Amino acid sequence: MNKIRVKGGRPLTGKVRISGAKNAALVLIAASVLAKGESIIENVPRIQDVEIMLDILRGLGIETGWVAEDAVSIQVPDEVNYHTPYELARKLRASNLLLGSIVGRRGIAEISLPGGCNIGSRPMDLHLKGLQLLGFETTLEHGFIKIRNASPQGNNIYLDFPSVGATENIMMAASVVPGQTIIENAAKEPEIVDLGNYLNAMGARVRGMGTDIIKIEGVSQLKGVRYAVIPDRIEVGTFMTASAITGGKVILENVISTHVQPVIAKLREIGVQIGEKDDCIEVVGHPKIKAADIKTMPYPGFPTDMQSQFMSLLSLADGTSVIVENVFENRFQVADELKRMGANIKVEGHTAVVKGVPRLGGTCVKATDLRAGAALVIAALAAEGETEISQVHHIFRGYENLVQKFTNLGADLQLD
Ligand code: UD1
Repeated sequence: MNKIRVKGGRPLTGKVRISGAKNAALVLIAASVLAKGESIIENVPRIQDVEIMLDILRGLGIETGWVAEDAVSIQVPDEVNYHTPYELARKLRASNLLLGSIVGRRGIAEISLPGGCNIGSRPMDLHLKGLQLLGFETTLEHGFIKIRNASPQGNNIYLDFPSVGATENIMMAASVVPGQTIIENAAKEPEIVDLGNYLNAMGARVRGMGTDIIKIEGVSQLKGVRYAVIPDRIEVGTFMTASAITGGKVILENVISTHVQPVIAKLREIGVQIGEKDDCIEVVGHPKIKAADIKTMPYPGFPTDMQSQFMSLLSLADGTSVIVENVFENRFQVADELKRMGANIKVEGHTAVVKGVPRLGGTCVKATDLRAGAALVIAALAAEGETEISQVHHIFRGYENLVQKFTNLGADLQLD
C-alpha cells in the first residue's frame, strides 16, 4: 500500500476526532526511560513513528506494548541498555530524543546519529552544547554520539535558537542531574509543556515550561505514572485546512484551541469561519479564499509543520501570497508537486510566491515528506479529477487513520 488515489471536488462535512499528538507522544515515550517501573501513556496515536520508538525501547531491554486502543504500557527494569542501533534510528529522527533520557538514567549513552532528512540537515549542536554544560562528555565516533559521565551538575544553558528537541533533551537529563538547571531561550511549544507535566507527574521538579525560561531542580529518581498525551495540533491544522479548501463544514473534536491560534488566525484572515467551543472547533469554508502572507516561526508563531498544507490552500486563493520558511532550509519540495497539479508557485531560497489559480487538476504526484504528503492530500481533495499520490508511507509515519478519517467526512480516497 504505497499510493492514495483521491477523487476531488467533494466538500468535507461531519465530525472528526483528533488523535494524540505525535511529537508529544514520541518525547513522552522517550522520557519514560527515566522512570523505574511501569508507565501507561494514553491518547497515543497508532502511527509508524510511535511503533518505531517502541521498538527502540524494546532494544534497550524495556517491555512495551499496547494495552488499549490508544494506550501503551512501558515497563522499565532496573537496568537498561544505553545503545540505540543505526538500523532503527535512521528510520526515526526523533530517536535523538533518547539522548537525554538514556544519559539521565545511565550516565552514559551511545545514540546513532539519525542522519539528515528531506526537510534539511538538522544538526544537533544545541543538544550537545546543553549536555556538555550539564557536565557530560560528548564525542562523535563512527556515526554515534557517545556520552560519558563526568560529574554532572545543573547549570545555566542559553540556547542560540529555541530548538524543540534540544530543549526536550536538556529537560529530561536535567530532571535527574543534581542542582538547578536554567534553560534560557527555551522552546515554548505545547509539546514542551506536555513533557514538563509528564516529568513532574513522575516526580521531577520542572517549572516555567511554556515560557522561554525553564527551571529544573534535579531529583534523585523518577517513578512510572499514568498520563494522557495532548491532542495533535498539526492534525487539527491539517483537517481545518482540508475543510477550508473544499468549502466544507466540519467539526473537529478533542482539540485544545489555544494550541492552534496561529493557524486559526490565518484561516480567519483569508475568510474561513472558525467557531471555538469547549474542546471542539467548527470550520466553515468560504467558496473564495483570500491570499495571505505567512512566516514560519517557533511557537507561538505560525508552525513550520503547517506550511506545506497552507501552500496547497493558498494555491487556490484570490491573489498572491508570500510564504517565508524560517525554521527548516529545505521545506518547499511540495511546490514542485503542486505545480504538477496546476499551481503557480515560484520558490527562491526561503521564500515562495504563490499566485492563486482558479482550479487545480488531478495528476500523479509524490509525497516527499510527512507534511508534504498531507498537503498533497489537501490539494487533491479540491482538485478536478483524480490525483494519485505515491510514497504515502511518509504520511502514515505521522497521521493516524488519515484515509478513514477523510472518508468518514465524505471524501473519495482509496489506498492502493
Ligand atoms: C521538532 C518537531 C518537528 C517540528 C520542529 C519545529 C518532533 C519530533 N519534531 O523537530 O515536527 O517541525 O520541532 O517546530 O518534535 N537546530 C540546530 N541545532 C540543533 C537543533 C536544531 O541548528 O542542535 C535547528 C534545526 O536545523 C532547525 C531548527 O533548529 O533549522 C529547528 O529545529 P528543532 O526545533 O530542533 O526541531 P526538531 O526538534 O528537530
